[in-house]
Amino acid sequence: MVEEFWGKLAALPKPTLAELFANDAERVSAYTLSLADIRFDFSKTHLDSKAIALFSGLAETQGLAAAREALFSGAAVNTTEGRAAEHAAERGSGSADAVGQAKALQARMRGLLDAIEAGAFGEIKHILHIGIGGSALGPKLLIDALGRDGSLYDVKVVSNIDGAAMAEAVKHMDPYATLIAVASKTFTTTETLLNAESALQWMRDGGVDDPHGRLIALTAKPEKALEWGVDESRILPFAESVGGRYSLWCSIGFPFAAALGWAAYEELLEGAAAMDRHFRTAPFAENAPVLAAFTDLYYAQTRECQTRAVFAYDERMRLLPDYLQQLEMESNGKSVTADGKPLTYPSAPVTWGGVGTDAQHAVFQLLHQGTHLIPVEFIASILPGHDLDPAHHETLLVNCFAQGAALMQGKKSDDLARNYAGDRPSTTILLDDVTPAILGALIAFYEHRTFANAVLLGVNPYDQFGVELGKEIAKGIADNGPEGFDPSTSALIAAAGLGL
Ligand code: F6P
Repeated sequence: MVEEFWGKLAALPKPTLAELFANDAERVSAYTLSLADIRFDFSKTHLDSKAIALFSGLAETQGLAAAREALFSGAAVNTTEGRAAEHAAERGSGSADAVGQAKALQARMRGLLDAIEAGAFGEIKHILHIGIGGSALGPKLLIDALGRDGSLYDVKVVSNIDGAAMAEAVKHMDPYATLIAVASKTFTTTETLLNAESALQWMRDGGVDDPHGRLIALTAKPEKALEWGVDESRILPFAESVGGRYSLWCSIGFPFAAALGWAAYEELLEGAAAMDRHFRTAPFAENAPVLAAFTDLYYAQTRECQTRAVFAYDERMRLLPDYLQQLEMESNGKSVTADGKPLTYPSAPVTWGGVGTDAQHAVFQLLHQGTHLIPVEFIASILPGHDLDPAHHETLLVNCFAQGAALMQGKKSDDLARNYAGDRPSTTILLDDVTPAILGALIAFYEHRTFANAVLLGVNPYDQFGVELGKEIAKGIADNGPEGFDPSTSALIAAAGLGL
């Protein structure tokens, strides 16, 4: 069924971007959506009314409206694991039970934050947040984006098992003035638990008598944190139905709420809630996450684009590409449909990107003249994040817009080395500013886009079995040394002197 649809889509006429603009004087307004203080400009993509009509048919065939309702109402949309995906309940959108539980757990988080501020742990200056994947990327992004003008605590996020990361993080921390936040949905992740042990040891070495008393657990498995030695009063649980890469809204966001304050945390949730309302109610052709999913699928399925690139033209959002890599690739990097059949068409493209203008001087050559077609997404803010000479921000935005124009318009030259083919697509997402509310809306936009892509592809975005095999083999090597692996792996293990 879906295969048939790709065939129909591929058979549509393929006007160039120049032709699309020439044939429609209203193209900019027709393909631009403004909501939640964000402007989404899809006009420089090849989407046209015919493609949107076809995609809307696919959305109907794939049951996108019903799937969306199932998501918000707390049905078991994560079919392979038999559970709901209730991150939106953290923002007030979901079943009464899920919203009530989220609110109660958030109130618990607030209680602990108030106690910290009131001096229950002495004078705290630093928070050492330990987690990986979804338990690190969200808080790291938020604090990097929004904590630049000062924050209540100095927060360091440590994820990598490489001890160099921990050593660097604690270099300038005072163990007596530090709280350790161990963030792990499962509370079993090797990297996180080993890093947590090292952090405790660092405190002991620094003379702290009861390091465990300064450790807070952020987890969906409070019983595991208890077993590990965390006192119940310092466990901030969240619901099992909140997926790891969708978890910055719940207690995984603890360091953000601590550093930026409770009001900022509430604004973040409210911004995301505005996007939830839009996604839930806007018709598909006027729905930002759905239109974005249409563009993703258009390029992946009909123009053989294996990657999409995201460039933040704003230092504050420099970690967004990292965040999106997990969100999109861990969610939709699948080879099997939600009902267990092999996927016969490409799944999610590779998400990659960087920061403008740096990327212009590094990777844009390939975007302009390489043989690959790579849809590009530009993200910028009208207001700057500094008060230096306005020339900085003006030049930044000028460059951002120039790149989109250059990709589209190209430049003919008889000298092929200097010829730009043009007709290369881009989407521009222009924020009014980088605030908690706007960032919340932006992240929720990406979550819903990922979900819409999944439904249209027919995959389950909420499992991630593909990450398990590597973990198993790592355990096998740690337990058994070099025996029993392929010759290359065994030789590497032996050469490094591991497990011997
Ligand atoms: O291994 C992948 C993964 O399970 C991610 O989905 C998750 O965000 C990350 O590991 C961390 O898991 P946890 O929060 O359970 O420590």
